[in-house]
Amino acid sequence: MKIRAAVLQAIGAERPYTETKPLVIEELELDPPGDNEVLIQIKAAGLCHSDLSVIDGNRPRPVPMALGHEAAGIVKEVGNGVRDLKPGDHVVAVFVPSCGHCEPCAEGRPALCEPAAKTNNAGTLVSGEHRLHRADGTAINHHLGVSAFADHAVVSRDSLVKVDPELPLHHAALFGCAVLTGVGASINSADIKAGQTVAVVGLGGVGLNSVLGALVAGASEVIAIDLDDSKLALAKELGATHTFNSGEEGVVDAIKQLTNGGVNCAIEMAGSEKALEFAYQITRRGGTTVTGGLAHPEKKVALQQVSLVAEERTLKGSYVGSCVPVRDVARYVSLFRQGKLPVDKLLSDTLTLDQINEGFEKLAAGKAVRQVILFD
Ligand SMILES: NC(=O)c1ccc[n+]([C@@H]2O[C@H](COP(=O)([O-])OP(=O)(O)OC[C@H]3O[C@@H](n4cnc5c(N)ncnc54)[C@H](O)[C@@H]3O)[C@@H](O)[C@H]2O)c1
Ligand SMILES: [Zn+2]
Ligand SMILES: [Zn+2]
Repeated sequence: MKIRAAVLQAIGAERPYTETKPLVIEELELDPPGDNEVLIQIKAAGLCHSDLSVIDGNRPRPVPMALGHEAAGIVKEVGNGVRDLKPGDHVVAVFVPSCGHCEPCAEGRPALCEPAAKTNNAGTLVSGEHRLHRADGTAINHHLGVSAFADHAVVSRDSLVKVDPELPLHHAALFGCAVLTGVGASINSADIKAGQTVAVVGLGGVGLNSVLGALVAGASEVIAIDLDDSKLALAKELGATHTFNSGEEGVVDAIKQLTNGGVNCAIEMAGSEKALEFAYQITRRGGTTVTGGLAHPEKKVALQQVSLVAEERTLKGSYVGSCVPVRDVARYVSLFRQGKLPVDKLLSDTLTLDQINEGFEKLAAGKAVRQVILFD
């Protein structure tokens, strides 16, 4: 079938993206679903910094690539072997498919699924196939097995989680990346215990979800940190107990003083080495620093080595919130419905597909939290 999709032509375009237009809306041919694949009509797709990192070259991927990985939609057709989804079902796409059979999947860590890591890097579906082509036959790479900035997508069954059709799809979309990653970093990766002190560094769509996750987990203090004061104000509205602008002098000392030596757990969701170093500095003796921001592969951090040992510190990465997708999407949706995870407050704008370059310019300028593209 013919679809309209936003295709990244080359990485590293100059800003402003409103002028250089790195994404071009193209009419593409979408093949029918193969074995264990599903055709979905995309209804809503969120703009995440990880898409921006492909555009600006911080997360190099093969081009041309149909971008987008945070989405919700409706099943239109299922391929051979798909028995537990049917046309009409509402689904959320998760940006790491889980095969269920590799070693990490078997150990309950599907965020590390091995076949998925390989094919996500290669720009194919987990089957190894490209289902997107130009009229001249050129294959278009898939982004993280989803390619969500399009009216339809063919994805692996293993990339989808079924959700209740009562859940509005523009809210459902956020659960595929921002909520799963941010809340999961607090609940799964950091394993926050009631009464602990927590700091979150970087308050975009992902970091603000970590703030909400820390509150749900029962943190006694949730300290929200960013370089942008407007993000601090939103974090406060969402329930953060304290906010700090890390661009100001003396903030590390101020946080240490406030928390009697540092927080039990600091979560970095900014994607820069400076932010991770900052998060490490404000973590207390015996505490845990979790990092979820995605920096350029060549970036290195400088940490005081002896403190890891003599202070028994833990430094831990968190990918897709160390999630088990089916379990965690259901849990977080249930918390959302109870009003305990108001992730709808993070939706700052809705856009059309044709406004996508404007949307990424706004995200790059730090002027948006979560923007969602709506499809008819
Ligand atoms: N681990 C994962 O599975 C996963 C999933 C999705 C996104 N990510 C990554 O998480 C990060 C956040 O994504 P997002 O969509 O929320 O991005 P965003 O651009 O919406 O937010 C990033 C925030 O970090 C702030 N920031 C930047 N440098 C900072 C610093 N030195 N100190 C404090 N704050 C700083 C910015 O002002 C901004 O508010 C990105 O690196 C993204 O690629 C990781
Ligand atoms: Zn994302
Ligand atoms: Zn696997």
